[in-house]
Amino acid sequence: MCGILGYTGERQASDILLSGLAKLEYRGYDSAGLAVLDGGTIKIAKNKGRLKVLEERIKSGEEISGTCGIGHTRWATHGEPSDINAHPLWSDDMSVVAVHNGIVENYREIKEMLSSHGYGFYSQTDTEAAVKLIDFCYKQEKSPLKAITRAIKQIEGSYCFVMLFRDYPGEVWGVRKDNPLIAGQGQGESFLASDVSAILQDTRQVYYLDNMDIVQLKKGVVRFFDPEGYAKHKELSEVTWDAQAAEKGGFEHFMMKEIHEQARAVKDTFGSVYHSGRIDLNEHGLNDDAIRNISQIYIVACGSAYHAGAVAQYVIEDLAKIPVRIELASEFRYRSMPLDKNALAIIISQSGETADTLAAMRLAKQNGIKTLAIVNVVGSTIAREADSIFYTMAGPEIAVATTKAYSAQLIACYVLAMQFAKVRGTITENYYNSLIAEIQRLPEKIDEILDEKLRLEEIAGRFVNARNAFYLGRNIDYAVAMEGSLKMKEISYLHSEACAAGEMKHGPISLIERGMLVAGVMTQKSLYQKIASNMLEAKSRGGFLLVVASRGCEALKDEADFVFHVPETDEHFTASLSVIPLQLLGYYVAVARKLDVDKPRNLAKSVTVE
Ligand code: G6P
Repeated sequence: MCGILGYTGERQASDILLSGLAKLEYRGYDSAGLAVLDGGTIKIAKNKGRLKVLEERIKSGEEISGTCGIGHTRWATHGEPSDINAHPLWSDDMSVVAVHNGIVENYREIKEMLSSHGYGFYSQTDTEAAVKLIDFCYKQEKSPLKAITRAIKQIEGSYCFVMLFRDYPGEVWGVRKDNPLIAGQGQGESFLASDVSAILQDTRQVYYLDNMDIVQLKKGVVRFFDPEGYAKHKELSEVTWDAQAAEKGGFEHFMMKEIHEQARAVKDTFGSVYHSGRIDLNEHGLNDDAIRNISQIYIVACGSAYHAGAVAQYVIEDLAKIPVRIELASEFRYRSMPLDKNALAIIISQSGETADTLAAMRLAKQNGIKTLAIVNVVGSTIAREADSIFYTMAGPEIAVATTKAYSAQLIACYVLAMQFAKVRGTITENYYNSLIAEIQRLPEKIDEILDEKLRLEEIAGRFVNARNAFYLGRNIDYAVAMEGSLKMKEISYLHSEACAAGEMKHGPISLIERGMLVAGVMTQKSLYQKIASNMLEAKSRGGFLLVVASRGCEALKDEADFVFHVPETDEHFTASLSVIPLQLLGYYVAVARKLDVDKPRNLAKSVTVE
């Protein structure tokens, strides 16, 4: 959940670290810090607050020169955000200085052991215990590699550490377990980073570290070791992502830019499996026999990815007639439920690093269930551990609130549903072909909705001071209501609840007050009248009815306070269109409230703790 960087080369490390950390701020932004090793001295600058606070200090002359260093943006887990708890953390004599992402679960035991050897502690972090353990091992072993191999045998939990050893000028060391770390190779310089976007402006040559890999950087040289300290060979990969894609490109916020990139994300994701007029999932480990043998499907995910899975549940069951269970990863991993070995577990994650989702996937694998991961970040932990991968082609997503990755996840799910249905003979060839044609039309329909976005900006002004909202739907529209409601609450801090429309009368309706936003999603013809009745029950108690409906839906045309029509499409794919106005509504309410849309309070983009 934190952003980590390391650099060694010929240039000033602080410049490289500050610009790279800016790309990692989405991973955490309650504190920032860096350490630079210059000759035999390590200098540290760190503080609570955004990276720009640190940047201003350094630009206004704080002495931190040197060509080898490490940096960090923090999302606090142990110890409140404060100057002292910010990373880097150091050993008492500054022999070892490190930044950390993850949680050291046995930090209390480590502290006790070290206290008995005379160590004191200045922060409330779990990280300090680990740094001092590495120092303790280093004092005995006199070698960074041996100190790391010895320390990681004693550290429980998940981590990525990037370290400087004062006696080893020009070197940066790293090790990872269940948290991401990549190494970059430049001309006469080398890098470590939590995410490739942080180093793309400097190099496209990267190594993906495996769990428990240890890495040593020297100027232009990257070496790897296994957890026992033996040298290890790794293949260099070329990153093809466009560096520009990670910039704001003229929009006020990354979120709006990413909302506008959805048509492309949808097109590219479909294009990645549709070649020469047919969908091919062989590369995804799904040949026809494998598809025929699926007895049931578990979809496991968190947050918006879970909401994409909720849509998929309806679509797969209806098209392919395979029973689907949609599970929150944080619940699935601790539930003792009988698991069916012939099931397929579909794991959905933008980052590919979400701790609960990763643990749930490992549980499924341990139970002999085949796992298919729908993941956006190439080389992420979930992508590397899943039996097979379906990459969404959304590109780097920076805004904490996901939009384009969610849209790309929907496409991956549609493709699976269609293919399962085709192979299992539950839909006709003609209908299958019409679905393909319809998916290909989604990008232009998404852009058509975006052309009307100013209508949503206008109506959003009405909810600047609102305190509560309801989002209603049934079936796929309920799944979209959940995502719309999440978008609203996470960025605008307006308390919002999604409700299966039929459940309103069993409790939630008592909360309706005059003028309260009640947003209804209506894209399933057979359910128009059902949702309309539920919306009218809210209206008669004072609710302000905002309807997102497929063009042609006339229900509520006279009673709703605001109607936004989306183009018609096959009813299995309507989520891809109805979610767009709801994303825009959340965005515009947050902007009207003058909130930090891209970095909402208390949230992080990549949640690598449970
Ligand atoms: C965080 C993000 C959400 C995301 C969820 C799951 O809460 O703020 O936008 O949906 O994590 O993340 P994943 O990377 O697994 O999709």
